[in-house]
Amino acid sequence: MIGRLNHVAIATSDLEKASAIYRDLLGAKVSAPVPQPEHGVTTVFVELPGSKVELLAPLGEASPIANFLVRNPGGGVHHLCFEVDDIVAARDRLLAKGARLAGSAEPKTGAHGKPVLFLHPKDFGGTLIELEQA
Ligand code: CO
Repeated sequence: MIGRLNHVAIATSDLEKASAIYRDLLGAKVSAPVPQPEHGVTTVFVELPGSKVELLAPLGEASPIANFLVRNPGGGVHHLCFEVDDIVAARDRLLAKGARLAGSAEPKTGAHGKPVLFLHPKDFGGTLIELEQA
């Protein structure tokens, strides 16, 4: 059902430091920071062949990554995003098999302008999973 690994998201409280690791130490192509107020994060995209790393820093009062950074003050892997062909069909299949969602059951428009859903880490080996309709 799942397709390409669209991105690995890494939460950080220091976007410039995290960007410098990928740009200067690892030699990757790194975007400028993109504020995404509707998602409560500022994002830096690290372009890789066939996939991406997204660096996320909190933006605004109620950032969805704020609690994660309280628990992980040094930052860390926040979620994996897999592509699916049909997000509603994927959701219905997962719910029928007993998987739990994290957040809304209705797909929202994600950081790339495509419908996304999140799956609860308790059902996925401790990892928050994002599904994005390809
Ligand atoms: Co994501």
